[in-house]
Amino acid sequence: VQDPRIAGISSAIRIIPDFPKPGIMFQDITTLLLDTKAFKDTIDLFVERYRDQNISVVAGVEARGFIFGPPIALAIGAKFVPMRKPKKLPGEVISEEYSLEYGTDKIEMHVGAVQAGERALVIDDLIATGGTLNAAIKLLERVGVNVVECACVIELPELKVQPYLDVWLNLFLTHGREKLGGRSLFVLVEGE
Ligand code: PRP
Repeated sequence: VQDPRIAGISSAIRIIPDFPKPGIMFQDITTLLLDTKAFKDTIDLFVERYRDQNISVVAGVEARGFIFGPPIALAIGAKFVPMRKPKKLPGEVISEEYSLEYGTDKIEMHVGAVQAGERALVIDDLIATGGTLNAAIKLLERVGVNVVECACVIELPELKVQPYLDVWLNLFLTHGREKLGGRSLFVLVEGE
C-alpha cells in the first residue's frame, strides 16, 4: 500500500516536455515547493524513515539536494554536507568524476566535513542514470563513511525495450539503481 501523501506529492511535480532539450521530460520540483502541504509531506516522509537510524550526516547533491537535504538534516539532528559542482567550495576538497551522456562532470566535498565511521544519508531530487548518486557514494566511502541509503523524490523509469531485443540491449543499458552497487535507494515517486 502506498502512503496517501504520495499522490499529492506526485501531482505537485510539474513536467515540462522538451526542456532543456528536445525529448527530455523535465521534472520540475519548483511547483512542489510552492505547495506547502506537498513540500511538508515530502520532508516528513523522509524524516519518518530516517529519524531513528543514527544518521549523523545528510549529504545533499547540488543543486536540488540542497533544497530537500537541510530540512531533513535539521529534523533528524544530523549535519548537512553539500556535495558541490567543481570549484565552488573554498576549502580543501576531494572530488569524484562521473560520466554524462556527453563528457564528464565532477562533484566535490570539503575534507574534514565528515569523519570515518559516520552514518550518512545521500539526498537528491532525482535519479536518472544514477551517475551522480554513485559519485556521491564514492566520495563518502573514500573517507570511510557508511552510506546507509540514498533517497530521491523522483526516480525516472527504466528504459523499456522490446522483449526480443532485451537480451541484447541489456548488455549495453544500465539503469540508475544498478549503478549504485547494491546500495539501497528510497524514492517517493516514479517519473514519466
Ligand atoms: C540532475 C538531478 C540530479 C542528476 C541526476 O541534476 O538533479 O542531480 O541530474 O542524474 P543522473 O542520475 O543521471 O546522474 P543536473 O545535472 O540537472 O544539475 P543541477 O541540479 O545542478 O541543475
